[in-house]
Amino acid sequence: MKVGIIGATGYTGEELLKCLARHGGVEVAFVSSEQRAGVSLKEVFPHLPAYADLTLCTTEESTRIDVDLVFTCLPAGESVKWGKRFLDKGSKLIDLGSDFRFRSADMYTKWYHIEHPHPELLPDAVYGLTEWHRDDIAHATIVGNPGCYPTSVLLPLLPFVAAGLVADAPIIIDAKSGVSGAGKKATDVTHYVSVNENVTPYKTGRTHRHVGEMEKELRAVGGKQTIVFTPHLVPLTRGMLSTIYVQLAEEKSRDDLFEVLANTYSAEPFVHILTDRMPDMRVAQNSNLCFISLQKVAEANCLILCSAIDNLGKGASTQAVQNMNVMLGFAETAGLL
Ligand SMILES: NC(=O)c1ccc[n+]([C@@H]2O[C@H](COP(=O)([O-])OP(=O)(O)OC[C@H]3O[C@@H](n4cnc5c(N)ncnc54)[C@H](OP(=O)(O)O)[C@@H]3O)[C@@H](O)[C@H]2O)c1
Repeated sequence: MKVGIIGATGYTGEELLKCLARHGGVEVAFVSSEQRAGVSLKEVFPHLPAYADLTLCTTEESTRIDVDLVFTCLPAGESVKWGKRFLDKGSKLIDLGSDFRFRSADMYTKWYHIEHPHPELLPDAVYGLTEWHRDDIAHATIVGNPGCYPTSVLLPLLPFVAAGLVADAPIIIDAKSGVSGAGKKATDVTHYVSVNENVTPYKTGRTHRHVGEMEKELRAVGGKQTIVFTPHLVPLTRGMLSTIYVQLAEEKSRDDLFEVLANTYSAEPFVHILTDRMPDMRVAQNSNLCFISLQKVAEANCLILCSAIDNLGKGASTQAVQNMNVMLGFAETAGLL
């Protein structure tokens, strides 16, 4: 099988290349970049000798190369423009950005403040949270890979919402991300001097665009709750930790609550439930794993869920490879364990 990567020089593109080098079942037929087109990939990523023969092409040039599946690793609004060119040629598409995470163009515009360039494609797009949409992903031509924060929140939260155990009250989420979550272009906020020895909350409450994506998935399993979300940048390169405060709709024992997670995830290779320790970022870094812990606070009839992932792993590129495996009929764990 042949795949291509549009936006290969970014953080998620680099992680895709690392993961696909271990995969064995796919050939990377092209890698694209606008700024570095014409440059050999071994100059950009000397630590990835598997691709020493590849040279970066422009995105326009990439559309002349036939692949079975293309990964788009671009800013909002860009992926769909290029992705459509490949869909028209019969390729499958996994977008690591946000252009195919909503089936409603209005919702996309509400959270991303731009018009969707091709709303006619949205009904065919499947949300790529693999553990929850595996069957649809297997038959999809377009997969909208989830955002990193939504992955870290939805994996622990959805089992309880789907089981009807969560009160119709706001769900409070406090999350921390390594700085690679913001992409490779430094800004005043992500500059080393701003981040080093510092922790900063940003886009608090309901202003972060991932809130819409999380609520959309809650609605899909019958949840009506409102999300109140505070992300923080922490001085780490990669990793993501989310703490989720959930008001329970009914009295449940700690064992019953653990059983909800176990029933959902015991057969899942990448989701691990921790019963006697808390997750931390280090255990999830450089992996496709999600670690989840649960604490019941009896006095408040409340549940605290903590989850750890790698924002570039399960939060982006390795989850994209997991989805590619499902779409192309490989073993789901190929290249990932
Ligand atoms: N970083 C994360 O943890 C993470 C997690 C989940 C999802 N995502 C999403 O994944 C996407 C990529 O993120 P990233 O962190 O990899 O970004 P990044 O590090 O900023 O890389 C962006 C890539 O896109 C290329 N590019 C930028 N604008 C372009 C344009 N107009 N046309 C063609 N190519 C363009 C860049 O190429 P040149 O600069 O070389 O031209 C680069 O290869 C984004 O939508 C992001 O929201 C990121």
